[in-house]
Amino acid sequence: MFAVSDIHVDYPQNMTWVESVSPVAHREDALIVAGDVTHDLGRLERALATLRARFALVSFVPGNHELWVRGDDCAHSVEKFERIEALCRRLDVAMRPRRFGRPGDDAAVWVVPLQSWYVEPEEGDDSLFEPKPGEDPTLGMWSDKFFVRWPGEPGFGRPADHFLAMNEPLHRAAFDAPVITFSHMLPRGDLMRSTAEERARLGPPPPDAYPEFNFSRVAGCHGLEAQLRRAGATVHVYGHQHRNRWREVDGVLYVSNCLGYPGRDQHANPRRLWQIWGDGADEGIHPASVTRR
Ligand SMILES: [Fe+2]
Repeated sequence: MFAVSDIHVDYPQNMTWVESVSPVAHREDALIVAGDVTHDLGRLERALATLRARFALVSFVPGNHELWVRGDDCAHSVEKFERIEALCRRLDVAMRPRRFGRPGDDAAVWVVPLQSWYVEPEEGDDSLFEPKPGEDPTLGMWSDKFFVRWPGEPGFGRPADHFLAMNEPLHRAAFDAPVITFSHMLPRGDLMRSTAEERARLGPPPPDAYPEFNFSRVAGCHGLEAQLRRAGATVHVYGHQHRNRWREVDGVLYVSNCLGYPGRDQHANPRRLWQIWGDGADEGIHPASVTRR
């Protein structure tokens, strides 16, 4: 089982990277793509179809970039999500839970996508918000403010709740093998900061390019953490922040492997897939190192 996110194929170098993944090495492997491939439906199809041709299973959740309404004919971001669901059905890319492995196979796992959006601090205390001195509270430099549009109906509440509801019902008893969940957004605030161990493994995070931007306003929500725990996840993959790290918290291995933007993020993000499960998994992120439930 491999994982990557934030492949941002609007950058030609990143599309080249996708197309350079071996067409033979992963025929029996699964791949998690944890969102932010592109807002462009044509490029999204090209990237997902390329990966689907290389892997036995590709599981995907849209990120915030996918839900930008920009240069397409979608009325709002929920309609865009539905267009993406239809595309994934056509490509046989999984946006719903899938069991990966043969019946009775000891190595089988469930790959469980968790659809997600962030809770902004003004929306409730289930936001991952943390104050940052000198921040711009209007998020004037955050592109979602310009390109994401929610339905105007009075029944449409918080976007985060809309997506969390899609993941239900979610119970460990529904799964007959270990569970790997994944989301684009972050499920916990502490994942926004690297630990000393992570800095030693992967180098220091890049310098803060936008001191007035407070990422925690748009990072994720606590509801995701409750869901992945209820699903009985052993591993949770997430993206969005473009900070690559892995750590165990209370029996769950949290992994983020973002490809990110060329030049800005990639000095700390080697251009490769991380193996997060199975024989030969990357040293240090093998789930055998995690307390098994
Ligand atoms: Fe994102």
